[in-house]
This record gives sequence, C-alpha cells and structure tokens, in this order.
Amino acid sequence: MATNIIEVNGLCKQYDAKNKNLLFSKNINPDAVFAGNSEGYVLKDVNLAISEGEFHIFLGASGCGKSTLLNIIAGFLKPTIGEVRCEGVPITKPGPERGVVFQNADSAIFPWLNVYKNVEYGLRMQHKSKAERRAIVEEALELVGLSDHAKKHPAELSGGMKQRVQIARSIASDPKILIMDEPFGALDAQTRRTLQDEFIRIWKKTKKTILFVTHDLQEAVYLGQKISIFSASPDAKIITQIEVPFDYPRLPGSSEVAEFERGVHAKLEEAINVHKDSGVDKSA
Ligand SMILES: Nc1ncnc2c1ncn2[C@@H]1O[C@H](COP(=O)(O)OP(=O)(O)OP(=O)(O)O)[C@@H](O)[C@H]1O
Ligand SMILES: [Mg+2]
Repeated sequence: MATNIIEVNGLCKQYDAKNKNLLFSKNINPDAVFAGNSEGYVLKDVNLAISEGEFHIFLGASGCGKSTLLNIIAGFLKPTIGEVRCEGVPITKPGPERGVVFQNADSAIFPWLNVYKNVEYGLRMQHKSKAERRAIVEEALELVGLSDHAKKHPAELSGGMKQRVQIARSIASDPKILIMDEPFGALDAQTRRTLQDEFIRIWKKTKKTILFVTHDLQEAVYLGQKISIFSASPDAKIITQIEVPFDYPRLPGSSEVAEFERGVHAKLEEAINVHKDSGVDKSA
C-alpha cells in the first residue's frame, strides 16, 4: 500500500502585509521579515496527505494561498502554525528530495548557459563526476525531447522548450517530489497540450510524486489523480478532495470527462463561496 510522502497538519500561514514585496529579495531572511503581524491568516487549518507517486492537483481562486502552500512544502517559507512533513520528517528548508518547477522558465533558467549546462548545473553543485553528469543530463534531455537542442542558449528556445529545460533540470537531480506552480500557465494552448502529454509520460516513467497548481480546470482533470480544492482567502483551507476516476490517456472531449469537469466546476464554485468555518467535505 502507498504511504504518505507529504503530510500537512493544521497548517496556518500569516504574512506581514507591510513586507509583501520582499518575499524573494536577496539577503533577507523571510522568517525574520514575515513574522505575521497582519490581522488575518491566508491559510488556516490546512490538512493534507499525499501518497508516494500520486499526481496531486491544487485548484482554487486566485489569491487563496496555493503558491503559499507550495512554497511552504518546498521549504522556502515556514508555517505560522502547524507542521509539514516529508517522509515523516518536518520540513524546515528546501531539500534535494523536493524539486521545484516555476511558472516562468525565464526567471528559473540561466540565460548565459546552454541547455546542456543548465540541466547539468545542479549536478555540478552535487559534485558528481563528469561521466556521471553526462549520463544523467543526456537521459533527462532525452526524456523531455531536447537531445537535439543541447547546445542552444535559452534566447534561441521557444517558451515550451524553456519549460522543458526547467523540467529536465529538476528531474536530473532526481527528486522524489516535483512541486510545480502553474508550470504550463504561460504557454499557448497547443504547446500546453503537448507538454501535458509529455509530462504524463515522464511522470509514469519516473514515478515521481507531483504537486501541481493550475487555474485550468480542464488541465486539472486531464492530468491529476486527485484534486484538492481550496476555499477562498482569508482563512483558506482545503475544503474538498476529488478523485479523478479516469485511466490515462484521458479523452478530453468525451462526454464522461465533460460531465466530470462540470462536477468539479460546481465543487470549485461551492468552495469559493463556502462559509470559512465549515468542515472538509470528502463526499465527492
Ligand atoms: N509575501 C507576502 N506578504 C504578504 N502577503 C502575501 C505575500 N505573498 C502572498 N501574499 C498574500 O497571500 C495570499 C495568497 O497568495 P498566493 O500567492 O499564495 O495565492 P495563489 O492562490 O497562489 O494565487 P494565484 O492563483 O493568483 O497565483 C494573497 O492574498 C496574497 O496577497
Ligand atoms: Mg500562485
């Protein structure tokens, strides 16, 4: 039986609203700055268990705290109250078992390094030998379909290719968990669908646990095994969890899928409008 690789217990997060723009500034310890002296909680009493190998989707209104939760699980931010565990160990900082893929590939990959060197970068930091690095980079590039573009620089790549570089770089470090915050959000519809299909193949092959935020309900139903839906902020929590009952590959146009999407949409509307103090609904 699958065990829980991520567990979130009674998590609450409060930001210091005065310092909102400083989150990713250099030379600032977020813990010192974001002590949380604004009035309300962004997230309040979030509970979650994700099994190993699961493809888990997060859906919720803009501003409800999806990125905040992912940043806490990634170890970039600390909870104000509550605890997050990875394989039973409390998360206090980023770790090699948790890879992160951001929405904006441009800010994540290095423009001065070619594709090969971008993917190799983390492996150099891990002091792997040249031969080891080569084997891993070549496999990762093959996996994302970039083997023929290894020598190109980011400026010579399309948006979808840059996102593939980011995914390859994360996978090269072989994390057990991939944390992805709207990774396909900036791509056109066609590229997005191609990357979704490629990513399902990569997930199946690598058996990683995926935590994936999207605004796109159809993407959620196309990719995920389980969908967590947030209520609106402030005091947002995961209010509903839905299992997606379809095998892969899924047929986005089919009547069953369309019907299921309508059900998810209704749950999402309900969650956005729900009274903040009601309990978690697991009836779906
Ligand atoms: N550093 C910060 N300081 C203060 N408030 C913040 C900070 N970062 C985020 N917030 C607030 O926390 C709430 C949740 O933000 P978050 O980015 O987690 O939402 P989200 O669900 O990812 O939204 P979106 O779907 O638009 O990406 C918002 O109200 C936001 O204004
Ligand atoms: Mg976000």
